[in-house]
Amino acid sequence: MTQQPSLPPPFHLTFLDCIDSTNEEVKRLALGGADHGTVVQAGEQTAGRGRRGRLWVSPRGNLHCSFLLEPGRPLSEAAQLSFVAGLSLAEALTELCPQAEIRCKWPNDLLCNGRKISGMLLETTGIGQGIVLGIGVNILAAPDPALYPTICVRDAGGSADAGEVLAAFCRHFGPWFDRWREGGFPAIRAAWLGHARGLGGEIHVRLENQTLTGIFAGLDDAGALLLDLPNGERRLILAGDVFFPAM
Ligand code: BTN
Repeated sequence: MTQQPSLPPPFHLTFLDCIDSTNEEVKRLALGGADHGTVVQAGEQTAGRGRRGRLWVSPRGNLHCSFLLEPGRPLSEAAQLSFVAGLSLAEALTELCPQAEIRCKWPNDLLCNGRKISGMLLETTGIGQGIVLGIGVNILAAPDPALYPTICVRDAGGSADAGEVLAAFCRHFGPWFDRWREGGFPAIRAAWLGHARGLGGEIHVRLENQTLTGIFAGLDDAGALLLDLPNGERRLILAGDVFFPAM
């Protein structure tokens, strides 16, 4: 397939060879009146951003794309879109790398054979109810990990290119997005947990000032991580980095 796939409606693609950040470009397009389903894919990003202000190294050959979404649900629920997207990408990558084990890691990473293969960044456009969903997938290269070991689609035995991964994602994301818009979080949470790594097992959660260890008990009805501490307390984690104990 070429670098510029055709996407199922409502998604419509603008492909740019090189841009600072596709999330930034989608925000600029939103200011100019772009609509729900606008997708920007870049061959390369010069200022790709990750969560918590981290850099997202964005070499040519990997997938860097952002979606403009009008959730049609209260803005307070918009963070749930990262679960809708994570679940959809897990299904797409499982199809494209059938020999690999693809898992979701809270809040919005995807792991392949225990290594990070994708990250997502959800932001608001700053105007109206618009949400920007940015997705990076390691396809040809797994840039040096900042925090976690990484892997790319090629090393996981998949032959799909960036365009094919984007198209497969959209095929799954469209129906899941509609389901979320109509029925809210319950079905998404159940399906996401079905793909989650480490449910019911011990995890470490790095917060701003401390690291907690406990049992990953699930998600609350808004998407916060439920962590059962050794003292019997159940903590709701709203933001943090999850690590799994060494096997
Ligand atoms: C993370 O895991 O920290 C999130 C990474 C998100 C990277 C994607 S690449 C496309 C979009 N544009 C950006 O600047 N960031 C997101």
